[in-house]
Amino acid sequence: MGTKIVGTGVYLPRTVLTNLDLENMVDTTDEWITTRTGIKERRIAKEESVLEMALNASAEAIREAGVSPREIDAVIVATLTPEKRFPSTGCLLQAELGVDKGFAFDISAACSGFIYALEIADSLLKTEKADRVLIVGVEKLSEIVDWEDRSTCVLFGDGAGAVLLERSSDGSDVLASRMYSDGNLWDLLYADNCGYIKMKGRELFKVAVRNMEEVCREVLETAGVGPEEVDVVIPHQANVRIINSLAERLGIPRERFFVNIERYGNTSAASIPIALHEALKGGKVERGDLVLFTAMGGGLTWGAVLIRF
Ligand code: UT7
Repeated sequence: MGTKIVGTGVYLPRTVLTNLDLENMVDTTDEWITTRTGIKERRIAKEESVLEMALNASAEAIREAGVSPREIDAVIVATLTPEKRFPSTGCLLQAELGVDKGFAFDISAACSGFIYALEIADSLLKTEKADRVLIVGVEKLSEIVDWEDRSTCVLFGDGAGAVLLERSSDGSDVLASRMYSDGNLWDLLYADNCGYIKMKGRELFKVAVRNMEEVCREVLETAGVGPEEVDVVIPHQANVRIINSLAERLGIPRERFFVNIERYGNTSAASIPIALHEALKGGKVERGDLVLFTAMGGGLTWGAVLIRF
């Protein structure tokens, strides 16, 4: 039996913050942000809570799958900005959705959270510990960004993406996956004592490219798939230059990488499920395609998942 994605959904906050808006807030320029990161604008959750964003994205994924919330038995939320310190956003979401069995929890793996969630969901399904798993990446990074620090405030955005998974025998599957962390490198990206994001950008950039390349190669090798066979790569959207370097190192044509960073910035755990949803709606991913996901984030954490969609 394989693991199949049967529904996806997103929620993007209404408020748009452009690079030009940021020019009026800190000492920066649209030109710097665009050329160094690829970002033109990002969404800011002014009115929406983390739970509301997760709920909207989940409702769309569940609707698309054509199932009832009562048929879901695991809810996993990847976030570094949970609704409350506790209980988990997963438990709060479980209640809001009307999921009345199974279990729910959160994953704290920063920008790699969705990769971790996908691997865990696949394991739960394959070991028959759950029959239908909802995974959500949701972030309200605008709350933990220091809006006076130009080196970080231009990078991040808010949003949510959800994916519903179940067992299937029609060929769809998670073919290989791998997650890693190295706690020794925690201080490259973390929240300081005030709760604000701090980052050693230049160092992180190099580690990100190297680690994502290595883990992508490992996952492809495990699955016996050559880089040239991958139809679509959906990477974490942290910096378009990281994505360009990764494409070059893996030898996968850049056109096969789905990129939407220009509209949303870095939405951490939400970036991959938002990109997957948009890739599907735009006809960039079709049933049967080999799709490679990869991410790198605070922890440090990183990983990759290869699926037959
Ligand atoms: O999602 C988790 C993973 N995240 C990442 O992997 C992020 C990895 N890092 C990056 O994406 C990049 O390092 C950044 C986008 C964060 C920064 O780009 P960079 O090319 O590495 O720039 P830099 O930090 O080396 O800074 C270059 C210059 C500095 O000025 P000096 O020292 O050369 O005079 C900065 O002060 O750019 C300056 N700078 C800015 N200038 C205008 C930094 N931020 C800004 C800004 N506007 N917003």
